[in-house]
Amino acid sequence: MDLLIKNGTIITAAETFVGDIAVNDGKIVCVGMNLPVVAEKVVDAAGKLVLPGAIDAHTHLAMPFGGTVSADSYLAGTRAAACGGVTTVFDYPMQRKGFGIIETVEARKAICDVEACVDYAFHCCITDLNDGAILDEFEAAVNYGITSFKCFLVYKKEGMMVDDGTLVKVLLKAKEVGAMTNIHAENPDLIDLYTAQFLKEGKTSAWYHYMSRPEFVEAEADKRAVHWASSVEASLYLVHMADKEGLEAAVAAKREGHDIYIETCPQYLEFTCDVYKREDGRNFVCSPPMKGEESKEALWKAIRQGAIDTVATDHCPFQSYEKDWGKDDFTKIPNGCAGVENLYPYMLSAANEGKITFNRAVELCSTNPAKLFGCKQKGSLAVGKDADIVIYDPYKDVTISVSNMHSDYDHTIWEGKKIHGYPVQTYVRGKLVYDNGDFVGTPGFGEFVKREPRK
Ligand code: URP
Ligand code: ZN
Ligand code: ZN
Ligand code: ZN
Repeated sequence: MDLLIKNGTIITAAETFVGDIAVNDGKIVCVGMNLPVVAEKVVDAAGKLVLPGAIDAHTHLAMPFGGTVSADSYLAGTRAAACGGVTTVFDYPMQRKGFGIIETVEARKAICDVEACVDYAFHCCITDLNDGAILDEFEAAVNYGITSFKCFLVYKKEGMMVDDGTLVKVLLKAKEVGAMTNIHAENPDLIDLYTAQFLKEGKTSAWYHYMSRPEFVEAEADKRAVHWASSVEASLYLVHMADKEGLEAAVAAKREGHDIYIETCPQYLEFTCDVYKREDGRNFVCSPPMKGEESKEALWKAIRQGAIDTVATDHCPFQSYEKDWGKDDFTKIPNGCAGVENLYPYMLSAANEGKITFNRAVELCSTNPAKLFGCKQKGSLAVGKDADIVIYDPYKDVTISVSNMHSDYDHTIWEGKKIHGYPVQTYVRGKLVYDNGDFVGTPGFGEFVKREPRK
């Protein structure tokens, strides 16, 4: 055997038990008590937790946006991922008018081939149907391993927004080929209305980013997406949900039996819109914005009740000088924040503090995204799966600072956050990529995850 991890407390979405895990050729080959195995490398994990690597189902690496490009390249973003216990990242390539899905994805895959330090998959954003040619390409995309597509109901001026007719066409075609449709839901017309009004009134601080897209602006679009998906009986995955009203509508539709899934992000579980009143409020500008305390509480409640399916990051950092473009005009702040390295430590810390169980943290950050998005070799510590493994020390405390993170950005909204318990090792397909504070992986080691269609 290549690797034996002994005496750890093994945590899966369903079980907790003390045991050993044997790894050979990148796969988990045996799980049990006192395995009689000889291995090249033996790691004693006594007193530690052994978890499946996290899957961050929502990142934007090297993404052209807001007049610039997000600060983390595929190399920096996946290096940071490894150091936060994330063994697979999903990125969002952006199909543009005149371009196909597979060529869009292949351009990004070519970069990942040399840069990715952990495994990677793609949801493809659809911005233009190219007179229907894009819909005809869905089946080929699914066969290629792209089994999810995304539509933005906002970002008109960025040329990313789709109308309801396009959304329904995508939902129907995705259903036909066994794909999931991911939606960014906010109402663009209301955002434009409020934005114009605030600018006219000279209300230009980061607070007005929130005020131009408050709870009901997200709720309307959440409900619209739920309505269309339910009406045509298609699968829907609402990304980065942040508001209580929309959440409740989505949960209700789920409970009625519709194929609807909900993602939220650590930033919505930690912060409220009050951050936009801070002097550095622009650094917290992302869309949708953080909401009020009631929404934050509702998200935690839904997490505890099992109504939220995944927690992912929407990792999309920008440098301070770029955030500063919007010092005197919130519309000029590039939207997005850092998070990929903080996802698993944050959710596991919540488990360590008793807010949720460790099993639930694993389910939200690993097992569910693997299942929902067809990564059949990922998301659990079962025999035959990829040996994507995190060893976690429940007693190691870390205070997050930009100086101990592994991305390329120069500031983080998580600065000063105390994390109770921390990953000490990350393995991707049996290879050690993170060891006690240090990145030890190799750019280009990460592999494309060819995903399965939905049944
Ligand atoms: O503010 C954000 N979230 N930026 C990234 C693009 C998106 O909306 O997901
Ligand atoms: Zn979004
Ligand atoms: Zn996003
Ligand atoms: Zn502690």
